Formats: sequence, structure tokens, C-alpha cells
Amino acid sequence: MSNVVPSGEILGARIEGIDLSRPLTDEDFDLILKTLGAYGVVCFPKQDLDAPGLKNFASRFGELEINVANSYQEPGHPEVMILSNIVENGKPLGIADAGQDWHTDMSYSKTIAFANVLYGIKIPRRNGQPLGCTEFANMHAAYEDLPQEIKERLDGMTATHDFNKFWEMMRREKGSSRPPLTPEQRAKKPPVSHPVFLTHPITGKKVLYANPGYTVKINELPQAESDEILAFLFKHQLDPKYQYKHLWNENDVLMWENIGTLHNAVADYRPDEHRYIKRCQVMADWIFQSPMAKAVGADRMV
Ligand code: SIN
Repeated sequence: MSNVVPSGEILGARIEGIDLSRPLTDEDFDLILKTLGAYGVVCFPKQDLDAPGLKNFASRFGELEINVANSYQEPGHPEVMILSNIVENGKPLGIADAGQDWHTDMSYSKTIAFANVLYGIKIPRRNGQPLGCTEFANMHAAYEDLPQEIKERLDGMTATHDFNKFWEMMRREKGSSRPPLTPEQRAKKPPVSHPVFLTHPITGKKVLYANPGYTVKINELPQAESDEILAFLFKHQLDPKYQYKHLWNENDVLMWENIGTLHNAVADYRPDEHRYIKRCQVMADWIFQSPMAKAVGADRMV
């Protein structure tokens, strides 16, 4: 019998009583979607999944992305990416610095991301406390609290999102050893535009769909005005009152929806404090066509 336990904070819930290695019942599938809509971030504790199991679960919610820039993929399962700081025989096992600043996955893509599904296999700890938490910010609440004048001014406007913005920030500001993107990689990820405010396909409510990781310009505004508004939006959306922190345990499956949240992987652990997580990214192809999206009037692909 499945059971939803809300965190009591601005985001986050735990679902107990579902074994994700088994095919989901329609009831559990609906429950997960509704819980994602209500709480944004959902943890399924104590799971036991291999790579095909993770892929099977995640792919119930939409097509899975194969990341162009990443070579750390589970052999035979390119949809499963490895996030890890472990180096064995001089060879990194995974991408060590994925998502280490505030962003929304795949906002740089024509088909945006619906959800991330991460399976925590090794979680670093110091003095018994977990490190490498994942932080989230609630974009339903951030939209709701925007001054009315900003809501009206930006209504119907679009913003450009560029994959290279986050990539270059990691290289410039965080000392990442990532090489620059090749012209071929850049050509596969050209900048794209999305509405600044999206109607969420589960809740039918408006969310602020801009993020400091990838958003570079509000298309309908002159550059200086766009810079000023984006600086305001980035500061507003990261107000601590919208934030929630997931402290990992081994065998957690953490699923979050990317349309109404931002996230940040906190890099507070040393190279000898090992983190090993498997990740699938679900695209928002199916969700915008789903009965749920139709019911709330958000049945449009972005
Ligand atoms: C990500 O998907 O951005 C990584 C999150 C994490 O490793 O905590």
C-alpha cells in the first residue's frame, strides 16, 4: 500500500510502499504524477534498482534524453548517466561536477525536461552527516509572489536559453576541467526560446520558467532592460524561502519535476568522500500531451 509523506516544507515528499523495480500499477503512476505536481520533489527510499530497472521506471514518464556532452554513460544504456567523483585506476567513473549551480535541466532544449530520476548508490558522509545534498527552489511560489507589474509586463514574452552558458560558467568560475564544447556539440544544442511563464502540465498553474544556469535574454526587451529584469528574476527565484534541501541516503530514488523547480547539486565533499549516483532525464514530450495536461489546459508541447 503506497503512502505519501509530505516534508512539511516548500517542496518535497516521500512515497513509501512502492517497489520501483516492479512494473508500476496505473494507480501508483497517477499517484506519482499528482505527488510531483503537489510537492515537486519526491523521494522513494530503500529502492534496489539496476540500470535497466532505473531506465524502465523513468521511461514510464516520457522519452529519455541521451546527453550529447557526456561520455559517462552506463555501458549498453546510454540513457543512464553516471554522476560521480570516484576515480579508479586514473579513470573517472562519472561526471564529477554535474549540476553544481542553480539551473533547470534541459531548458536549453526545444523539448524541455519533465523530470529527473536519480538513484543514490554511494553518498558521502562526514561525522555521520550526508554531504552532496541536492537543493531545489519552487517556481510556482516564485511566480505567485512576483509583483503584479512584472507579471503583466512579462506575460507572453519569451526567453533564450543556451546550453553553453552553464558549461562556460563551470569552466570560468568553478575551475572545472571540462573542455570547451566542440563546434559539433554546440551545433547539436543551439540556443532556444521558451515562454518566460509556462503553464504547468500537472497543476495548470503558471510557473516562472527562467534560470540563472541557462537563460540569457528576454527576447522582446532591449539588452540592458533584459539584463536588469533577468538579474531581478534570478535573485527573486533563489530567495531562501522558496528553497528545499534533499539530504541523500543510499538507495534513495529521487525524482523531481523540472518545469516548476530549479536545482543545485551542492559540492561540499572532498575527492576522497565518494558520491556515486545514476541518473535518467525524462523529456516533456508525453506530459504535455497527457490527459492530466489536457484536463488543466496545458496540453501544448513547448
Ligand atoms: C543534476 O541532475 O543536476 C545533478 C543533481 C545532483 O547530483 O545532486
